[in-house]
Amino acid sequence: MAHVLVIGASQGIGLETVRAALAAGHRVRGFARSAGRMAVTDPGFEPFAGDALNAADVAAAVDGIDVVVQALGVPGKDLLGPVTLFSRATAVLVPAMEDAGVRRIIAVTGFGTGDSRDAIGLLQRVPFRLVLGRAYDDKDVQEMRIRRSTLDWTFVRPGILTPGSATGRYKVLAEPSSWRNGLIPRAEVAHFIVGEIAQQAYRKKAVVLVK
Ligand SMILES: NC(=O)c1ccc[n+]([C@@H]2O[C@H](COP(=O)([O-])OP(=O)(O)OC[C@H]3O[C@@H](n4cnc5c(N)ncnc54)[C@H](OP(=O)(O)O)[C@@H]3O)[C@@H](O)[C@H]2O)c1
Repeated sequence: MAHVLVIGASQGIGLETVRAALAAGHRVRGFARSAGRMAVTDPGFEPFAGDALNAADVAAAVDGIDVVVQALGVPGKDLLGPVTLFSRATAVLVPAMEDAGVRRIIAVTGFGTGDSRDAIGLLQRVPFRLVLGRAYDDKDVQEMRIRRSTLDWTFVRPGILTPGSATGRYKVLAEPSSWRNGLIPRAEVAHFIVGEIAQQAYRKKAVVLVK
């Protein structure tokens, strides 16, 4: 069983990952600015209140950790302004992990990041750029920073996130020729992440997740 740090643990994919990792028997440190208000009572859970942009917070959070899950997000209303959270938080996290000797990172980015940008359908390209362009440019920098590191990484690129429970029935698209957009519940993304904590089947790979 691993000691897992989830960064962005208080809601969304991060919170689903906290729950699924605890259910799988891992110890979980949940990092978010609001971690102190999380209603997770499992004895294997340690809330860790901190800011992903604060180097001292992040250095303390990676201490004793086996696997980091980076699941940060910005509120929808902030997507139309400049987005720098992903790149800046990654610039803090990567050296903190390298200094602490923590090698494994599973980073949530999104379909359309990096080399999956070319897989966006023609009709979706303009609305995608208008709404998500700034965030995805910043996620490109996030992925590039991790690729340049000494870490063992996996990039998890979900399609459009939805509510819903985990069934384990979803597609893991690892071949660039198969990449496409689609819906995927956050709980299924967490299911994939927890499988990857145990198996490392997609080490140094980027996968698109859709139903
Ligand atoms: N929406 C979609 O359809 C879609 C599609 C593909 C990919 N994605 C990506 O999937 C990821 C997860 O999205 P989500 O909707 O599941 O999550 P989310 O609800 O946006 O949750 C974001 C998490 O990040 C934390 N966070 C934000 N800033 C932080 C900071 N400075 N320090 C520490 N923690 C911070 C938040 O906690 P605090 O606020 O308490 O700090 C929260 O736990 C995002 O990167 C999103 O872009 C989304």
